[in-house]
Amino acid sequence: ISLKNYNTFGINVTAKRFISVNSLHELKEVLAIEKEIFLYGGGSNMLLTADITKLVVHLNLKGIIVNDTDENDVFVTAEAGENWHDFVIWCISQNYGGLENLSLIPGNVGTSPIQNIGAYGVEIKDTFHQLEAIEIETGKVKIFTKEACNFGYRNSVFKNELKGKYIIVNVTFKLTKNKHHLNISYGAIKNYLSNIEHPTLKEISDAVIYIRKSKLPDPKEIGNSGSFFKNPVISKIDFDKLQKKYPEIPNYIVAENEIKIPAGWLIEQCGFKGKRYGDTGVHKNQALVLVNYGNATGKEIFELAQKIQQTVKNTFNINLEIEVNII
Ligand code: EPU
Repeated sequence: ISLKNYNTFGINVTAKRFISVNSLHELKEVLAIEKEIFLYGGGSNMLLTADITKLVVHLNLKGIIVNDTDENDVFVTAEAGENWHDFVIWCISQNYGGLENLSLIPGNVGTSPIQNIGAYGVEIKDTFHQLEAIEIETGKVKIFTKEACNFGYRNSVFKNELKGKYIIVNVTFKLTKNKHHLNISYGAIKNYLSNIEHPTLKEISDAVIYIRKSKLPDPKEIGNSGSFFKNPVISKIDFDKLQKKYPEIPNYIVAENEIKIPAGWLIEQCGFKGKRYGDTGVHKNQALVLVNYGNATGKEIFELAQKIQQTVKNTFNINLEIEVNII
């Protein structure tokens, strides 16, 4: 089958064998027969550059379970195949707080911990409690605590030591029922909500949705995978040198000697913003996002990414790391 409708980049590669699993039992049955699989979650963070020869396993596990703890906290467990944004909206409808800033992020619940998805001052590690994952080799289910996941900026143990070894089947978040810890520190959100004294979860979510829609292309209209690169972190010494040359360079201090620079700014300075090359290009409102206007191949997008990396390196002497999984 064609995978064009199964990846948000809209890349037209094919899979010879494709199976959808609807329960843990079915997943275990598949793993008992075949371990060399290509796991398909939401297809929102991958660039497909070739046909898939392995068995594609679409993880279609659904369901949400709520465990009340005390007056203020609630543990909510969502199965891996739940759509992330739908899950966030459901939590808001229940007045469960903690995920509202992460509205409209594409993908599924099961893949959210792999890159510790984050936006507008919040990362999932902030409300993450634990997850359950199947070890592909043995078929055994193991619980991972927050510590075991070793979360970092767009990073976790599942992108490193345990890459390709486990399949996340559900994720539990610790959310608030009242006394929400709202995070509206991000400039654009603060502006959007400036007339509201005590914003609700829904109002914050609406602000996030509005801001995302104004900056980020909708994958249903223009193929993309969100931020294609990570924001690079450089040393204070390197930053001071750059700032002398580019006084307006945006930056966030992440540690005493570490400064994060928005990759979008670096790419824009190199002249790529809004540029189109055939059916590939750099989004006009956010230079961090590479797009497929229709019939681009994964290889063409990857080549554009490499050209951007090279130009940023030559101009700023900064290495841009690709955030999307290249398949
Ligand atoms: N900027 C530019 N030109 C651009 C884009 C950005 O100059 O084309 C500069 C501006 O100074 C702007 C600053 O970069 O103020 C920050 O831009 P933005 O708020 O859009 O955030 P970002 O750092 O570019 C990160 C995440 C996004 C997330 C936003 C909001 C990464 C790799 N990306 O982008 O995540 O939505 O912050 O929190 O950390 C994603 O991962 O797919 C994603 C969209």
